[in-house]
Amino acid sequence: MADALILPIGLVTAGLVAARLGVLTIAAWQQAAYRREQDQLTLEVMRERIAEAKKRRNENSLAWNGYRKFVVHRKVVEAEGVCSFYLVAHDHKSLPVYKPGQYLTFRLSIPGRDKPVIRCYSLSDCPRSDHYRVSIKRVGSPPDAPSAPPGLVSNYFHEQVTEGDILDVQAPRGHFFLETEHERPAVLIAGGVGVTPLLSMVNSIVAARSQREVFFFYGVRNGREHAFREVLNRVVAQHPNIRLVVAYSRPNQEDEKQEGRDYHHVGRVDVQLIKSYLQATNYQFYLCGPPTMMETLNKQLTRWGVAEQDIHSEAFGPATVSKAFTPPQAVAGGVSDQASTTTITFAKSGKTCVWKNAAGNLLDLAEANGVRIDSGCRAGNCGTCVVAVKSGQIQYVTEHGAELEEGTCLTCIAAPQGNVVLDA
Ligand SMILES: Cc1cc2nc3c(=O)[nH]c(=O)nc-3n(C[C@H](O)[C@H](O)[C@H](O)COP(=O)(O)OP(=O)(O)OC[C@H]3O[C@@H](n4cnc5c(N)ncnc54)[C@H](O)[C@@H]3O)c2cc1C
Ligand code: FES
Repeated sequence: MADALILPIGLVTAGLVAARLGVLTIAAWQQAAYRREQDQLTLEVMRERIAEAKKRRNENSLAWNGYRKFVVHRKVVEAEGVCSFYLVAHDHKSLPVYKPGQYLTFRLSIPGRDKPVIRCYSLSDCPRSDHYRVSIKRVGSPPDAPSAPPGLVSNYFHEQVTEGDILDVQAPRGHFFLETEHERPAVLIAGGVGVTPLLSMVNSIVAARSQREVFFFYGVRNGREHAFREVLNRVVAQHPNIRLVVAYSRPNQEDEKQEGRDYHHVGRVDVQLIKSYLQATNYQFYLCGPPTMMETLNKQLTRWGVAEQDIHSEAFGPATVSKAFTPPQAVAGGVSDQASTTTITFAKSGKTCVWKNAAGNLLDLAEANGVRIDSGCRAGNCGTCVVAVKSGQIQYVTEHGAELEEGTCLTCIAAPQGNVVLDA
């Protein structure tokens, strides 16, 4: 009887042991598979980093110093008063891969001008190795000074520059670019021709087949000035991760039928409009547009709770968005406007002037006092207004795109911190 029981118990025990062994083997196999998967992922991340580093090294080695000759390959009208220029290198060599949002600096010899004129224009497409593209808006006389001459370089581009012309161009640069290392949702906000660097960003996201969530707010006056309409509509139709919101501030009669198709709102792009589309503030914001729009939006976004480091902006004209700026009177050792004793000496011209915050920057102060300093972008980007600082300290009202040697300063975006002597 006992013997009869021992056999089944033995069999059951052996079965249990076998099952346990089986479970342990499967677990060990799963663990090994998991480790292999993890190792594979780590390897892929490493490979990506190496490829990225190689790409960066390659990009740097392709960039050039000073000016390089480019041929205008195509000139295309994008909207009323906006023209694109496709540029190929005169030497036909490969072009550096710039960061979406960066700009080119042009040096133009314009008939009737004693010196070359410098201007910056943002790259308006995703990076390509065979050509660059910039898109330029013709600038008229200011409404409050209708007798002033219209914009020099933008009109020169529109009227004089034609296919086959050769232009002097500096390598792409600038600190306003889309961070592509991560996939954080992005909000792109464009006003008028400020669309150019943001178009480069959105085209780069598309070219990288990224699934990054993007909200693109684009404000223009009306349908006639609505540049890149077809290309943006196509992008949105093919990429559900990209949402486009167009606002016309002054739609024409013929625009009215297109509401809901070409544009979605009447009015300006402001924080109320943005809030009605976004659930939260944790986006990276990229802004480019007229000074008033940028100033207003910057303040509104900060008030809404967007972290300062998440707001990136580009000024096309004199720097107006000065997040980093501490007025001189607030700086230790600084002085107030009321009793300003800060002096700026222009050593070569033999002039000493009292600094007032209202002067804005050292370039404006120099010009107001008849001291000649060459200038181009007046936004810290082209490097034309650079002068040597003989003594004293300066601070910048905004980040500069142009590279600088030690002991020099970009006067168009500089304010003094105490007395300064400039070599001008
Ligand atoms: C980084 C960066 C990127 C840029 N990207 C682009 C871009 O992608 N596309 C684009 O179109 N622009 C861009 N710009 C702007 C561009 O560089 C020029 O500033 C713009 O084209 C105007 O230059 P302009 O020579 O035509 O006008 P300017 O000759 O510099 O004149 C500017 C304004 O001043 C007025 N003016 C001239 N003389 C007087 C006077 N005596 N009294 C009163 N008013 C006067 C003119 O009528 C005009 O309205 C960018 C600028 C920067 C800094
Ligand atoms: S004028 Fe271009 S950097 Fe100052």
